[in-house]
Amino acid sequence: TYVVTDNCIACKYTDCVEVCPVDCFYEGENMLVINPDECIDCGVCEPECPAEAIKPDTEPGLDNWLKLNAEYSVIWPNLAARRDPLPDAKEYDGVEGKLAALFS
Ligand code: SF4
Ligand code: F3S
Repeated sequence: TYVVTDNCIACKYTDCVEVCPVDCFYEGENMLVINPDECIDCGVCEPECPAEAIKPDTEPGLDNWLKLNAEYSVIWPNLAARRDPLPDAKEYDGVEGKLAALFS
């Protein structure tokens, strides 16, 4: 599966949802997540993310992100169409450790 990671937070560009053939993105207030049971591992979303927030779970160190994607993708609503990025997306792009902002 592919996993949405830290740099999506407070950016939420949503380019990813446009290309996903199985519509497996789910939307929280500050970020999107991928449902790992629905993702078919096609990889087309990875290069589409301007924030480079999408990674394959074969990359090391992504366990916590995989868990977060799995947990929230069954709670948050599906998002299948692109929408405007969050207002401060440019400002937050590349800022380290944004997880704390997720619940703010
Ligand atoms: Fe969707 Fe493919 Fe990305 Fe999985 S890898 S979330 S199926 S676009
Ligand atoms: Fe987030 Fe990138 Fe999609 S910033 S909403 S994973 S395009």
